[in-house]
Amino acid sequence: MAMSKPGILFIHGFPFDHAMWRHQVAALADRTCLVPDLQGAGSATAPTSPDAYSMAVYARDLIALLDERGIDSAVVCGLSMGGYVTFELLRKFPTRVRAAILCNTKSAADAAEVKRGRDALAEKARSNGASAVAEELVPKTLSRTTLERNPAVVRDVRSMIERQQVDGIVGALHALRERPDSTPLLDKIRVPVLVVAGSDDQITPAAGMREMARAIPGAEFSLIQDAGHLSPLEQPGAFNSALRGFLAKLL
Ligand code: MLT
Repeated sequence: MAMSKPGILFIHGFPFDHAMWRHQVAALADRTCLVPDLQGAGSATAPTSPDAYSMAVYARDLIALLDERGIDSAVVCGLSMGGYVTFELLRKFPTRVRAAILCNTKSAADAAEVKRGRDALAEKARSNGASAVAEELVPKTLSRTTLERNPAVVRDVRSMIERQQVDGIVGALHALRERPDSTPLLDKIRVPVLVVAGSDDQITPAAGMREMARAIPGAEFSLIQDAGHLSPLEQPGAFNSALRGFLAKLL
């Protein structure tokens, strides 16, 4: 009997939603792809209290989704904050993760200065709305190549941030600042892992991601040229070929 291909759970970053994975979902039409909005993102319900948000809550909701769909274990592909959630799944629900793809992410928790930046951004979101968050983050998120030569992607990313709910943005910032350090987990990971970095990522630089890949037993590393922090959207062709190459080896 032919084995069915494992489903893929895509987990978006901050402050984005499921739409950031659309090129991957289109390219993997032969697979079950789960592309949820995390609590407070996209069209998902956004509790008003920031305390309601954490990596543990995001992970719990995703396990409930796998249960609902009758999926024992999935390939989990998370970008940045989605990578932090992937670490949480690997820590708390290791048997539910068939393999992991860690995109534009890092294992370390926030340093004190970064936490202060989270608080300032939350304040900005409360006072001036999601468009002020977009104004601050778009130039940091995209590569120079994307900013200079790909206005459609710039517009797309800006409008994705602008449509986010302020409560969801503030809640996610709380979850980010309180997340645990996942570095002690790295050498305990026992599933196949692909680490994907962008050559021009200012938020999670490629050098740190290469180091992270070295700390995970057997992990593969792929560098996407001319991509910033949103490699699946900025360079979908190169990203998808790395993704497909990794998935092909899992069967
Ligand atoms: C993300 O893309 O999810 C964020 O850059 C995560 C972070 O700010 O740590």
